Amino acid sequence: MSGALSEQIVKGDRFVVAVDGPAGAGKGAVCRAVASRFAFSYLDTGSIYRAVALLSLQKNIESDQELGELAASMPFEFRQVEGVGFRGFLAGEDVSDALREEQVGRKASHVAAVPQVRAALLTFQRHYGGDKNIILDGRDTGTVVWPDADLKVFLTASLEERAKRRALELQGKGETVSFQKIRDMIARRDARDAGRTHAPLAAAADAQHVDTTRLTLDQSIDCVAKMVDKMVGNKPR
Ligand code: C5P
Repeated sequence: MSGALSEQIVKGDRFVVAVDGPAGAGKGAVCRAVASRFAFSYLDTGSIYRAVALLSLQKNIESDQELGELAASMPFEFRQVEGVGFRGFLAGEDVSDALREEQVGRKASHVAAVPQVRAALLTFQRHYGGDKNIILDGRDTGTVVWPDADLKVFLTASLEERAKRRALELQGKGETVSFQKIRDMIARRDARDAGRTHAPLAAAADAQHVDTTRLTLDQSIDCVAKMVDKMVGNKPR
């Protein structure tokens, strides 16, 4: 891919929905449901940062330059697995469960602050899905990756509520968890994501804000789906 092409945002006629927000706000579940309701392609951008983190832990890579090279060359792809949904593969191996591990999430938040990593993954994100309509979620998808997205949503929930959801999720997997510890970990991650110099977590000026603190998952999905429905209906063909 040439440098010029890799820096260009290839939007064309595709409909792009960018959903940003802090960890635990419900972005992933909402985006997957909306993607399948509208037959859009879906990109969980956190997974690609997690994939770099996983590889760096496995290979003991620390320097910014090497992390950037890792991000630019990692053989990562999403595949839809029949009856299971989207799974992440590294060099052909399904690493979806490893990507969700707590230490990988923590490391992801560190590697995501490295400019060389962000530059490499920007190219990946801009070209993902070809010319298909797409919904993507992350921290900077409406501000940096797709500043000209058709719809930008900023999904939030209170820290208490996000920690509660994460605790329930871990308990569901049979893991013993301290609520306080999870709450502190999420707060630290929020601060790191919002405080970094490169592409910090921030709502785009033209994003629509959705606070899911008092919404069920179904209500959150319906809320975003209604926005998409309205925008798709209004878009000139
Ligand atoms: O969303 P998730 O928790 O999987 O993201 C893991 C980490 O990757 C985040 O804490 C954040 O630091 C980073 N990230 C990012 N930009 C994105 C998506 C994720 O910096 N678009």
